[in-house]
Amino acid sequence: MKYLKIIFLFIAVQVTAQQGGMWIPSLLEGMNEQEMTSLGSKLTAKDIYDVNNSSLKDAIGHFNGGCTSEVISTEGLLLTNHHCGFGQIQSHSSLENDYLKDGFWAMNKSEELPNEDLYVEFIVRIDDVTTKALNGITDTMTEREKQSAIDKNINELNKNVAKETWQDVKVKPFYKGNQYFLFVTEKFEDIRLVGAPPSSIGKFGSDTDNWVFPRHTGDFSLFRIYADKNNRPAKYSKDNVPYTPKHFLPVSLDGIEEGDFTMVFGFPGRTNEYLPAVAIQHITQEFNPSNIAIREAALKEIDAQMKASDAVRIKYASKQARIANAWKKWIGENLGIKKSNAIAERRAFEVAFKKALKEKDLEKNYGNILPEFEQLYADFADINIKRRNFIEVFSVTNELMQMTFRAYQLEQVALNKPEKLEEVRTALVNRLKGIHKNFDATVDKGVFNNVMPLYNPTKVDASIYNKTSFTDIDKAIQLLEGDATKVVENLNKDAAYQYAKPMIEEFYTKIDPEFQYKNQAIAALQKTYMKALMEALPNARYFPDANSTLRVTYGQVRGYSPRDAVYYNPVSYLDGVIEKYVPGDYEFDVPQKLLDLYDAKDFGQYTDTNGKVPVCFLGTNHTTGGNSGSPAIDAHGNLIGLNFDRVWEGTMSDMNYDPEICRNIMVDVRYVLFIVDKYAGAKHLIDEMKLVHPKKK
Ligand code: ARG
Ligand code: GLU
Repeated sequence: MKYLKIIFLFIAVQVTAQQGGMWIPSLLEGMNEQEMTSLGSKLTAKDIYDVNNSSLKDAIGHFNGGCTSEVISTEGLLLTNHHCGFGQIQSHSSLENDYLKDGFWAMNKSEELPNEDLYVEFIVRIDDVTTKALNGITDTMTEREKQSAIDKNINELNKNVAKETWQDVKVKPFYKGNQYFLFVTEKFEDIRLVGAPPSSIGKFGSDTDNWVFPRHTGDFSLFRIYADKNNRPAKYSKDNVPYTPKHFLPVSLDGIEEGDFTMVFGFPGRTNEYLPAVAIQHITQEFNPSNIAIREAALKEIDAQMKASDAVRIKYASKQARIANAWKKWIGENLGIKKSNAIAERRAFEVAFKKALKEKDLEKNYGNILPEFEQLYADFADINIKRRNFIEVFSVTNELMQMTFRAYQLEQVALNKPEKLEEVRTALVNRLKGIHKNFDATVDKGVFNNVMPLYNPTKVDASIYNKTSFTDIDKAIQLLEGDATKVVENLNKDAAYQYAKPMIEEFYTKIDPEFQYKNQAIAALQKTYMKALMEALPNARYFPDANSTLRVTYGQVRGYSPRDAVYYNPVSYLDGVIEKYVPGDYEFDVPQKLLDLYDAKDFGQYTDTNGKVPVCFLGTNHTTGGNSGSPAIDAHGNLIGLNFDRVWEGTMSDMNYDPEICRNIMVDVRYVLFIVDKYAGAKHLIDEMKLVHPKKK
């Protein structure tokens, strides 16, 4: 008995220690399949990805290039996060129809709302094309020569791939360019809004609760994919019909408990898991702090103005969420790296790496990598910060500067490529209209006063707001009229343009080129380092960094201990929503209807075994930005939840996955169903789904 126990413990430790990783769905057979089984999965690799038969992957759609979504009915019903559909919900909202505040529910298909520029993309097939992509590449080539040879090879691959006419193809580098994979895809462009809870459910807890647990956010929204009469991708048309998917996810009513297998299937955007210690140090001690400061300065103004005015609140909702989201994530990332001692650990790892190089006689090939990293980063730090700070001011936080930044590009065209003037002007006018749709000059001026001192303290002059044409869309468009000479002349007379131009010029002529040059050297070395790691330490497991391609990550439902003597249970309940409720608060208000349902205990079939409505749960799935909206899938392939966040201390998992404290946060699908059915009264949507009971035999 004792003997058995020890073995058990050993296995358990091994399994937790091995967790993490975002795996390529076409390569799960073998190691991943075994590991998934050991964690409780009943799925085979082919259940997840199969080219010849329908499989789970056919239900997973890349949502507008930045989030994930999944099909949950035979009629193309699509589930994603509230924060993923936020831009669409906002764009249909007005003071009269405030869907952000009140929610939106289409009670039949004719009420579903079309969305310009929204698309969902499915993966048809994944092929390893490394040999072809790297054909003809030699060590004697410069980085530039290598890249242009690779680009040529990829062009050939794109041209010659076997695919249907309505399908698309793209090739992407993996393992820092040591491998290449080709994706055949199908892109649907008629995606309509079906339902969204009010923000007081879909964004409950807002920024205070963002990136933290315990969490009580019903972060979901519903869309529907429409296709042409042949069930193929098509632009919006009223004649389109609901899409019949190759696969859709059944929805489990049986929920989860600690230790249950979970898999998250989606499109993680970007990770950097193989950085040298010196890079982690630069990012968390220099780079992040400077960008955090700029966003904090912007948010101070935006938050105050949003609270003061409903019109500003609606206009700035998406912008504020975008700015605040990364701001808080970076703070958590810095915290987690510090708390887990990640830099020292990475240094210790590098000692082991050097030892392995020596033992395997690889020093002559790779012995210089680490010292070179030290040197490159020392030389890269300032320019990396300067460039990103520019972007934070001229592209993320301040919109007057953003408009001048874009206008500068028009001036360049007017001066150098007048034949393109018309095309670029049209694009710019559309851009300016887009900005002005949600622009408030007073707010923007406040932001300017707060952020500009952090970029260029010697040159802050907000008087430009009273003189420029850019703060008024009609005047701004007028400014851009006429022939090339006129455009140049008028632009250079504008006060804001005059003010911003030297900084923009510095960016284009000095900052960005220097950054690109140094960054390229780092990327090349990182590619060599990746190869060296795999050769020197071949028994470790290497998953490719996230690159917005479809990945599988898996784990188990687990709580965690954020600090001494504190343990977070993995499941939160509706009771917690009520505990957090602050009447009238912009973050923690709760809709009356939800309070009524709670008081009446009108929970339907959506409770846990304890009679409570579950809201969110935690897992050890290794996720990142882009995994938002990804389905959490049970051991049998059913939907149990919707990924939407990570815990604060765990956001460092983009650089350093630590199974002790890295957790992803999911909405329990029963909360989604409860809100759709009981809160919204949209029972027809529930009827459209396939509800299953995998745990009741
Ligand atoms: N932190 C989550 C993600 O990275 C959710 C963001 C949306 N919520 C918010 N309060 N901004 O994107
Ligand atoms: N909320 C994130 C997203 O929009 C997912 C959370 C994360 O970064 O893990 O993709």
